Amino acid sequence: MAKRKLGILISGRGSNMASLVEASRTNDSPYEVVLVASDKPDAAGLEWAAERGIPIFAQSPKGMPKAEYEAAIDSALRKAGVEAIALAGYMRLLSDAFVGRWQGRIVNIHPSLLPKYKGLDTHSRALEAGDTVAGCSVHIVTEELDAGELLGQAEVPVLPGDTPHSLAVRVLEQEHLLYPRVVAEWLNRWDCSRLP
Ligand code: GAR
Repeated sequence: MAKRKLGILISGRGSNMASLVEASRTNDSPYEVVLVASDKPDAAGLEWAAERGIPIFAQSPKGMPKAEYEAAIDSALRKAGVEAIALAGYMRLLSDAFVGRWQGRIVNIHPSLLPKYKGLDTHSRALEAGDTVAGCSVHIVTEELDAGELLGQAEVPVLPGDTPHSLAVRVLEQEHLLYPRVVAEWLNRWDCSRLP
């Protein structure tokens, strides 16, 4: 069966993007990564992707109306033949219009056990609350922040003496395992009728 064409949006380091790319390079992967796009032209992940022959697209939204910026991203994704989008540390809110155009075809990884700690500073908030378990979630992106259908989660223990950094490192290790697995399961469930 033809592989689904995945586009990945990043804003920085791109370690989750790298884990998706690496997993896609196995024979039984249901997807291939056809574009890595970023709102930050100097995102480290862009260079990593380009070095591996993956087409990249960078567009800073600075000085542009949001609709124009998103139209540029949308056009790059469509030109690359993208069928599904994975957000991987993409730190910009997508407009309702953009999400509507890709309804049900965008997933995100978030560093908390949703519905806990939507938004930013998830690890500090988990530590301040005295949680003994933390983790990460993969969910469908909807118009509401970090609130779409949950596709998978992974848990880690919170250990005595943890800082936001040490907890983030432990959670990130699980993100790298969870995201490729859940994206593959999600795309394996697609049938042709889901295509635009
Ligand atoms: C990851 O921990 C990801 O879950 C988080 O940003 C980090 C990106 O790291 N995403 C969010 O907070 C989205 N709200 P990466 O660039 O190395 O993948």
